[in-house]
Amino acid sequence: MRLFLKIFVVLIVVVFVVIQFFQPEKNIGEISVNHILRQEQLPENVQQILRNACLDCHSNNTNYPWYDKIAPVSWMVKKHIAEGKKELNFSEWGKFDAYDKIVALEDIRQEVEQKTMPLKGYVTMHKEAKLTEEHVAALFAWIDKRGAELVNSPIVQ
Ligand code: HEC
Repeated sequence: MRLFLKIFVVLIVVVFVVIQFFQPEKNIGEISVNHILRQEQLPENVQQILRNACLDCHSNNTNYPWYDKIAPVSWMVKKHIAEGKKELNFSEWGKFDAYDKIVALEDIRQEVEQKTMPLKGYVTMHKEAKLTEEHVAALFAWIDKRGAELVNSPIVQ
């Protein structure tokens, strides 16, 4: 029995080491001119919210802490980034027309209001991503202001 246990433990270790050689490609690109941080005049605290809580999954640039580089966590992270970017990529903000932006702003409000974003697992690992009431208020204030500007912009009317 003890031999069996030893073999089992060795096997687990071997599998763990071997899977480290199968690392997904990293999501690290240039900060493009279309990036929301370059496109919008965001108040400092709203920039901080996006940086701390959203951009790792919703842009072309992810900050990878060491534990995100370890398989199988790295595989899960890659999946989140791919799905997150498919829904909303803040690196492409400049390419959105006014309608797309209005819809995106409303989506963001809804996700944050319902506390479905940022993803719970992410907040557990990234304490700075936890949104306080002040964060949420600052974000919504900006969404209201920008949303109203967009709705009143000549293209939409
Ligand atoms: C750990 C990765 C991760 C983080 C961090 C994250 N998201 Fe997401 N987001 C996703 C994934 C994955 C999806 C697609 C699946 C889903 O809707 O759950 C998504 C979907 C969305 C959607 C589209 C939802 C829909 O169904 O229309 C919005 C809007 C969104 N996120 C906003 C945000 C905002 C705002 C933040 C920061 C406050 C944020 N996300 C942080 C991973 C993330």
